[in-house]
Amino acid sequence: MIRFKNVSKSFGKDSHNSALKNINLEIGAGEFVSFIGASGAGKSTMLKMLIGESKPDNGGEIWIEDIRVDKVKSEFLPYLRRRIGVIFQDFKLLQSRTVYENVSLAMEVAGASKKEIQRDVPKLLDLVGIASKADSYPNELSGGQKQRVSIARALSHNPILLIADEPTGNLDKANTYDIITLLLKIHNSGTTVLLATHNQEVVDKLKKRVITVQNGEVVLDQEVGKYYI
Ligand SMILES: Nc1ncnc2c1ncn2[C@@H]1O[C@H](COP(=O)(O)OP(=O)(O)OP(=O)(O)O)[C@@H](O)[C@H]1O
Ligand SMILES: [Mg+2]
Repeated sequence: MIRFKNVSKSFGKDSHNSALKNINLEIGAGEFVSFIGASGAGKSTMLKMLIGESKPDNGGEIWIEDIRVDKVKSEFLPYLRRRIGVIFQDFKLLQSRTVYENVSLAMEVAGASKKEIQRDVPKLLDLVGIASKADSYPNELSGGQKQRVSIARALSHNPILLIADEPTGNLDKANTYDIITLLLKIHNSGTTVLLATHNQEVVDKLKKRVITVQNGEVVLDQEVGKYYI
């Protein structure tokens, strides 16, 4: 489903300063894959390539199903991004909007009808366990609750792929566990999930495929991973 072919990336003119070095990788539909590695290893750069936010240097190819992502014209990127849900460490919620509106507005922007919005938002809030906070504003929520809202939003357009870049970076242990459990639930419903994290315990507990990135290279790719660095 996902393929990185000869993917390198340098920032600036200094080619020694490369963020990614000849990455070749295949990820099947329905997999749950964690990317681990030290800060600056290249995890986010890899994930950004899947939404066209970063492009490989010449010769590299990024594929999602039969779409060559690095060749998608910028005017078509929004359509690609609707098939992918993305969640971040810092949630990126609209502060002046309620929990309900954060999800409903995302659906509206993506072209959903009023009827679909009324039908789906309560279901999504239920799924992530935040229905009782529908009318609260983000600053009235805990970190774990905020991340649930951002997951509900990411799921609102039924993505085939969910990308979670350090989603538990701002959370305590209990909330981290809850969010990871939620990601597993989403994965079990058939969505491909990619997770970038520093969190050793999370990766060890997941017992899913783990790709270790070090200095821009994939140094380890394990079926059932443990954290080694
Ligand atoms: N827009 C950019 N301009 C210049 N250099 C960048 C840019 N984005 C990333 N880099 C560099 O690329 C390398 C990889 O960064 P990346 O953000 O992918 O790391 P990461 O593994 O996600 O780290 P972290 O765990 O801290 O999030 C780093 O050396 C970083 O400084
Ligand atoms: Mg990162």
